[in-house]
Amino acid sequence: MAVLPTGAVSAPEAGFPDRDTLRTALRLACCAPSVHNTQPWRWLVAPDAVHLYADPARRLPATDPEGRDLVLSCGAALHHLVVALAAFGWTARVRRLPDPEVPDHLATVTLAPAAADRADVVRAAAITRRRSDRRAYATWPMRDDQQADLVSAAAHHGVVARVIEGEARADLVRLVAEADARQAADSDYRTELALWTGRHAGSADGVPAANTPRETRYGDLVTRRFSAPTLGGPDRAIGTGAGTLVVLGTASDDRMSRLRAGEATSAVTLAATAARMVSCPLSQPVEVRAARDLLRESVLRDELFPQLVLRVGWPAPGASTLPATPRRPLSEVVGLSGTPSPRRA
Ligand SMILES: Cc1cc2nc3c(=O)[nH]c(=O)nc-3n(C[C@H](O)[C@H](O)[C@H](O)COP(=O)(O)O)c2cc1C
Repeated sequence: MAVLPTGAVSAPEAGFPDRDTLRTALRLACCAPSVHNTQPWRWLVAPDAVHLYADPARRLPATDPEGRDLVLSCGAALHHLVVALAAFGWTARVRRLPDPEVPDHLATVTLAPAAADRADVVRAAAITRRRSDRRAYATWPMRDDQQADLVSAAAHHGVVARVIEGEARADLVRLVAEADARQAADSDYRTELALWTGRHAGSADGVPAANTPRETRYGDLVTRRFSAPTLGGPDRAIGTGAGTLVVLGTASDDRMSRLRAGEATSAVTLAATAARMVSCPLSQPVEVRAARDLLRESVLRDELFPQLVLRVGWPAPGASTLPATPRRPLSEVVGLSGTPSPRRA
């Protein structure tokens, strides 16, 4: 499939970015985090809009039976696109789930010119620097104002980012461990993990072995055990922290909530990156139904539906820069439509 070729479709409408700008923005959008780096999105570029579709063929049936992580991952890519375009001087209007008959059509993005401000550029610059950092973090805490910035980044998307401390944190850590044990006992889950993780550098998707540490316990927190990890951790004397645990929660629990939670995931992790913090999603307690129910009940006091847990903190002193994880070529994920109608995809 050609990627935004010159002259292959009708010319973009006036008031719409040129092909080079769109190509660069889509490349940045695809830098978004996704569960096991499955990159479960498809983009359709029409003369007047960019459409985002979920790619159900990329769902992980054992890890993500309900496709929750899949929609979240697409939400993160949607926010990355909006951030990139804003830095290029285009403000986005997003219609989410525009067609109830096509649930995989997650968003239609239309654009209008608008001068980028400094915050737009800072956010976009964080896209290529953000990594899921699974190593130990430094032990010093975030200041209250730094936490407040992350909370407000999520709130902008209608999502509550709740910092979990004290007894609730102990409950959360226990649920993460229970979800991990439940998944580790499932042979289909283990097969999926072996297929999608521990990948060599030449792979266009999946989690590279070089990005997963051998160490998976930080204090009382157990993190996902990936297959064939090769990443060394920081010196134990300087990096032993698990970081601050944040739960992203929504008022309802439907496709729209997950899409919004994905956008908030992008917003929070880019804000953390821009502030020189590190972060990593932890989705196991949301993937396992029983853990998710308990998370809602005991950690979120029945006030919110949990969508994702994030570990956020400071890099351990001297921690190396992690390699970027690979992405599929744009030709695999972008299609062109000569007409504005998304149904003709
Ligand atoms: C919905 C979602 C769930 C994820 N769950 C986990 C997880 O449980 N543990 C983990 O280490 N990384 C998790 N990740 C991070 C992905 O593995 C990561 O985004 C992907 O490998 C690409 O790497 P990058 O984030 O460094 O670009 C998750 C990401 C998303 C969007």
